[in-house]
Amino acid sequence: MYKISKVEILADKIYLMDVVAPRIAKHCEPGQFIIAKVDEYGERVPLTICDYNREAGTITIVFQTLGASTIKMATLKEGDAFSDFVGPLGCASEFVTEDLEELKKKKILFVAGGVGTAPVYPQVKWMKDHGIDVDVVIGAKTKDMVILEEELKSVAGNLYITTDDGSYGRTGMVTKVIEDLVKEEGKHYDTCVAIGPMIMMKFVCLLTKDLGIHTIVSMNPIMVDGTGMCGACRLSIGNEIKFACVDGPEFDGHLVNFDEAMKRQAMYKTVEGKKLLKQIEGDTHHGGCGVCGGDE
Ligand code: NAD
Ligand code: FES
Repeated sequence: MYKISKVEILADKIYLMDVVAPRIAKHCEPGQFIIAKVDEYGERVPLTICDYNREAGTITIVFQTLGASTIKMATLKEGDAFSDFVGPLGCASEFVTEDLEELKKKKILFVAGGVGTAPVYPQVKWMKDHGIDVDVVIGAKTKDMVILEEELKSVAGNLYITTDDGSYGRTGMVTKVIEDLVKEEGKHYDTCVAIGPMIMMKFVCLLTKDLGIHTIVSMNPIMVDGTGMCGACRLSIGNEIKFACVDGPEFDGHLVNFDEAMKRQAMYKTVEGKKLLKQIEGDTHHGGCGVCGGDE
């Protein structure tokens, strides 16, 4: 059992929990995810790690209540426990293994959309810990939905907040801020890391392609079982077939076929859709052995 040592409500339907999981806390890196299960009957919920404390042996997760499993997760209190908490899973962010001196020469922009602010935090914190100041944009629908502002302020070089309705910070979506920073405010970026809803990542990528900024995205939103077996997170990256949970979750955003991924995500929700995808995609439907029928 994995005890919950802290629970905080960050915004409407958005929860933060610290979970005691020393082995994961010891080995995880920014970009990786865990799978949580409330009890033996609960669904597997893959969540990108929001923070880790190697000394205290805790992992911080942030989730939004979207379906039955996350609603059940939200009923857990401090002192309760998850029956399963598995990780670290997936590949760490690319920069973790990059030459530090080369990385220090780069101008990096992080773009966090809504709940996607949570996985951005450990990456920016890692940068700060390694002496790298980065710019961060947080976008949210409205003031009350901005999360982790203080935490990001303490680790970012510059923090820009924008709300769709203009109730806090700048007005407009994250793409407007990126455009303003580059075109109006003379900023130059070599790399952009964009994490948020699929539609946000798609439009950030269209813009950064135009601006010539290499862009990394996190495809966590399309994951279901998180083990390469269910086929939910199958993606076209350039001419290659990849699986977000085993090959990612982070990819070169300019190579991601977002339209296909979003269409697949919608189809995957129905039994008929799943069957059709399996028929069309054949052996490449799963990320695991490819023929095991893991989604049945
Ligand atoms: P949201 O809908 O409130 O959007 C957040 C921000 O994204 C907006 O304020 C806006 O600035 C930007 N955005 C949205 N649509 C845009 C568009 N068409 N063009 C440009 N910018 C746009 O976000 P939310 O409700 O917090 O998001 C929940 C989603 O985030 C879920 O679908 C979840 O799967 C996803 N999520 C993704 C990750 C990840 O790793 N990529 C992690 C956690 C959550
Ligand atoms: Fe099921 Fe990746 S989430 S194959």
